[in-house]
Amino acid sequence: MTDKLRIALIPGDGIGIDVSAATVAVVDAALAKTGCAPLSYETIQAGAGYFKETGHDIEPGGETRAGELDAIFLGAIGLPAVRHADGTEIAPHLRLRDIYGLYAGVRPVKAYPNAPQRLADPRAAGIDMVILRESTEGLFYSAAVHGRADIRGDDEVRDTMRITRATTEKLHRFGFKLAERRKARGRPGKLTCVDKANVFASMAFFRKIFDEIAPNHPNIETGYSYVDAMALDLIRKPWEFDVMVMENMFGDILSDLAGGLVGGMGMAACAEIGDEVGLFQPAHGSAPDIMGQDKANPLAAILSGALMLDYLSEQTGNATLTDAAEAIENAVSAGFEAKTIRPMEFGGDMGTKAVTNDLLDRLA
Ligand SMILES: NC(=O)c1ccc[n+]([C@@H]2O[C@H](COP(=O)([O-])OP(=O)(O)OC[C@H]3O[C@@H](n4cnc5c(N)ncnc54)[C@H](O)[C@@H]3O)[C@@H](O)[C@H]2O)c1
Repeated sequence: MTDKLRIALIPGDGIGIDVSAATVAVVDAALAKTGCAPLSYETIQAGAGYFKETGHDIEPGGETRAGELDAIFLGAIGLPAVRHADGTEIAPHLRLRDIYGLYAGVRPVKAYPNAPQRLADPRAAGIDMVILRESTEGLFYSAAVHGRADIRGDDEVRDTMRITRATTEKLHRFGFKLAERRKARGRPGKLTCVDKANVFASMAFFRKIFDEIAPNHPNIETGYSYVDAMALDLIRKPWEFDVMVMENMFGDILSDLAGGLVGGMGMAACAEIGDEVGLFQPAHGSAPDIMGQDKANPLAAILSGALMLDYLSEQTGNATLTDAAEAIENAVSAGFEAKTIRPMEFGGDMGTKAVTNDLLDRLA
């Protein structure tokens, strides 16, 4: 008998395994520091390695079990050498998004002191924005794992961009609320709708729903950007943006670009939130080029762990979980500030374990 919050832990493949272990250690330390009860973890086997061994991409009953617990934490899934017969990769996490309607993909992008700025302009030090990526439909509605592509023999393949009113209304409401929460913490309170409404009916519909919801949030400034112009502006003046909302494929691409602006994928945290279930994972993959070498930067995963604590706080009404999330964010900032965090990803001398240990020392 336990009243601990229960987390489905899916370490997955490659560096996913190392960064998951790092996250569990740091989350545990932050909870202890702030006087919160520890979480209990239930590991679920899934991924390309598991598929190679068993022919299944997730353990039997794994999807159901994951959704029954209080949150899901995932390391990374996929190995380029392990594929289905159609050439696509093992991706059960896309099914989890679909089954549990994890429409709100929250991807914070924040410049930390002394972490590499890829832009020469000193204003890049002030980058602090969130990409809100719809994560169940858009062009990923057709993702191979769902078997929905229209495959016409070996001559033609059609994928579908699906935008529904139900999901888009929820997404935009989530975006406005996120901008409001950030405004309460001192950010500008601005939401930019990123689309391609000039060309695609689906995208004009996406923008129309944005315009329907905006009047309910008069305290939030709104803006519009076509996705191609957004790519330009993310390089020219990313410091001018706060929250940006977009369909799945645009968010997939722009969140990698944005992650690059503040260092690399090792800084790219991610929350995927639905009505009932929340899944937290770094935005990066299994990084086969560095796996098994203690070279991965665990911060994207650890900051995703902080997002998980924020989510659990909101779900349970236990505000001390937010304190634990803030303790992690502050430890990361302080580590960069004091140059005791120097990830190899940025040319530093610290691998996964050394970065994790610095945070554990700070949270002790
Ligand atoms: N959500 C997921 O689980 C997810 C996301 C993307 C890719 N993938 C899978 O991961 C595998 C590799 O894909 P990829 O190479 O396109 O993307 P990737 O994110 O794994 O790697 C891209 C580049 O970033 C580097 N990198 C990524 N995370 C890092 C970290 N934490 N620290 C230091 N460097 C890091 C890698 O070394 C590599 O050079 C593929 O099988 C792909 O399908 C899974």
